[in-house]
Amino acid sequence: MSAVPNVHLRDGTIVPALGMGTWKMGESRARLRAEIDALVCGLELGLRVIDTAEMYADGGAERVTGEALIGRRDQAFVVTKVLPHNASRRGTVAACERSLKRLGIGTIDLYLLHWRGSHPLAETLAAFEELQSAGKIRRWGVSNFDVADLRELEALPGGRECAANQVYYALSQRGVEFELLPWHARHQVATMAYCPLDEGRLIGAHPVLADVARRHGATDAQVALSWLLHRRGTMVIPKSGRVAGIEENAAARNLELAAADLAALDDAFPPPRRKHSLAMI
Ligand SMILES: NC(=O)c1ccc[n+]([C@@H]2O[C@H](COP(=O)([O-])OP(=O)(O)OC[C@H]3O[C@@H](n4cnc5c(N)ncnc54)[C@H](OP(=O)(O)O)[C@@H]3O)[C@@H](O)[C@H]2O)c1
Repeated sequence: MSAVPNVHLRDGTIVPALGMGTWKMGESRARLRAEIDALVCGLELGLRVIDTAEMYADGGAERVTGEALIGRRDQAFVVTKVLPHNASRRGTVAACERSLKRLGIGTIDLYLLHWRGSHPLAETLAAFEELQSAGKIRRWGVSNFDVADLRELEALPGGRECAANQVYYALSQRGVEFELLPWHARHQVATMAYCPLDEGRLIGAHPVLADVARRHGATDAQVALSWLLHRRGTMVIPKSGRVAGIEENAAARNLELAAADLAALDDAFPPPRRKHSLAMI
């Protein structure tokens, strides 16, 4: 790609399209140092978006993120998520305050509802607005929402302010392309692609991916990430708890796929021809 791809949020903020995930970080003391080093390395390479959640390692991934942010808060765009069972009016505010503490920061850049639960969306929204007015979050969004959920959200007071929807999207999981991604584009909701490497399953398993990678002197992971980065308007948040993995993933920004590569990948991983129910991990 000629320039590092960016994503424009509805409020005019521009963030680099390639960021980092943190699921499974903070689970083992033995891996802690490597995970912090990996996130710090990513920030230094310009992978500004760090995606975490109160759910991951029971707050452990937020703590790892907090360690990586020490002295570097201004280099990061921090995304975290409230669990559905906490997403009542008061529960959301309390969960956010706990997340801020674990992260060691004053403001979350993007706060997401992790998936839909039993609390009415209007309550969660009211809490998001309260948190925004108090300066504790800059903007809010959702995750694992399909079009019907987004329509319901949009109809609520303030519902049109939703900045992003984080969904399962990878070469091997293209169902969202049929209806959801066009809806996002029409309504200025940024797409965040989670599990962009299909949790590692895309690596070393597909001859066509390997073929494209070989032509470019790249790796399977880099091709899988570059393919998503060619889908403009999509934030991509691969997780690696290793500096070498982060460096490899960051280099995917420089990989320019040719029309023939994209066509070969389309043949091997066909786009959807009908609506699929939203896949979730
Ligand atoms: N909103 C949601 O419901 C939801 C659901 C799932 C995930 N997420 C978010 O999305 C992020 C990404 O998804 P994910 O972590 O499930 O899966 P992923 O990013 O698709 O894949 C991560 C796996 O790939 C490995 N990996 C990463 N880079 C690699 C490379 N260059 N070469 C070889 N292996 C590599 C990682 O191992 P190493 O660490 O050893 O490199 C890890 O095992 C999560 O961390 C989380 O922040 C959100």
